[in-house]
Amino acid sequence: MTLHTPHAPPREESAPDILCEDLVRIYSTEGIEVQALQGLSLRVDSGDVVALVGASGSGKSTLLGILSGLDTPTGGRARVAGVDLLSMTRRQRVAYQRHSVGFVWQQTSRNLMPFLSAAENIALPLVITSRRDRSERVAELLDLLDIADCRDRRPAELSGGQQQRVAIATALANTPSVLLADEPTGELDEAMSAEVLEAMRDASERLGVTVLIVTHDPTIAEHVRRTVQIRDGRTSTEVLRRTLVDESGQQRTVSQEYTVIDRAGRLQLPGSHVERLALRDRVRLELEDDHVGVWPDEDSSDDDDLREDDFRDENRPAPDQTEGLR
Ligand SMILES: Nc1ncnc2c1ncn2[C@@H]1O[C@H](COP(=O)(O)OP(=O)(O)OP(=O)(O)O)[C@@H](O)[C@H]1O
Ligand SMILES: [Mg+2]
Repeated sequence: MTLHTPHAPPREESAPDILCEDLVRIYSTEGIEVQALQGLSLRVDSGDVVALVGASGSGKSTLLGILSGLDTPTGGRARVAGVDLLSMTRRQRVAYQRHSVGFVWQQTSRNLMPFLSAAENIALPLVITSRRDRSERVAELLDLLDIADCRDRRPAELSGGQQQRVAIATALANTPSVLLADEPTGELDEAMSAEVLEAMRDASERLGVTVLIVTHDPTIAEHVRRTVQIRDGRTSTEVLRRTLVDESGQQRTVSQEYTVIDRAGRLQLPGSHVERLALRDRVRLELEDDHVGVWPDEDSSDDDDLREDDFRDENRPAPDQTEGLR
């Protein structure tokens, strides 16, 4: 009997590693529909490390489920590592999950087999894809994640941070283009979280793998260049961090906030901006040569007065007088 292992699907060079456009995911349970993704767009370039943040229920895990090939979107477009996630066959899906993406879950226990040592856990995906250079690859990964001293220990004999580094090594075993992690530091303290986030960044730098991390970790912005905020099933704002060197050679990190604009021209202003300028209902726009100005609508307060005046109009029945008219 010959075992046939599906090979990594061919990829288009120069395409971004993750490209989602107008992605929609509707869950229907017992006649109730939940629109978890409402036209989400996201582009992540090859080799980038991006954090995805957002309130509970905003659609982060739904997105990762789709990108990992475990779930299928209801509509829109999604391409990861050159593979179209909406049109792939069952066979292509298996190949995609084995070769194109790696996944790390929040629960340290969900990532690893409890009865296997660290080295055996890392070797498992290599056994499934019949890789011949298994022992060299395992040694390479143990070294890359700085866990060589853990190789013969079972997960229960490792710290939470070490378990997650073994999980990252396991996810990277078959050299995927993209590493996805859903709250990988959710069960760890601050020091261990920093270790795990740095391990992912280091793996990205050394292997060129693209990393997308979902997290609630407030220190995440210190570890990644790009943080994308997801709100109500859509990407809303982004923070990009850049390191600048001034004339005296001093390094300075600057953060710049951006808002995402979709193909229809829709954008969301950050909540803090809306609150500060008391923006609501509508805003005044002015097109300049190189930017668009947004001002509060000065007429809207007059509108409020008008609405109240309307209400007080003597010719109109007062609210309690309308009772008898119904
Ligand atoms: N299998 C499912 N069936 C029905 N509704 C679901 C399912 N999975 C998620 N949802 C709903 O979809 C929305 C998005 O959920 P999702 O798990 O993606 O959020 P999240 O951003 O990962 O939240 P958290 O930070 O709490 O993990 C929520 O309203 C959730 O209740
Ligand atoms: Mg989640």
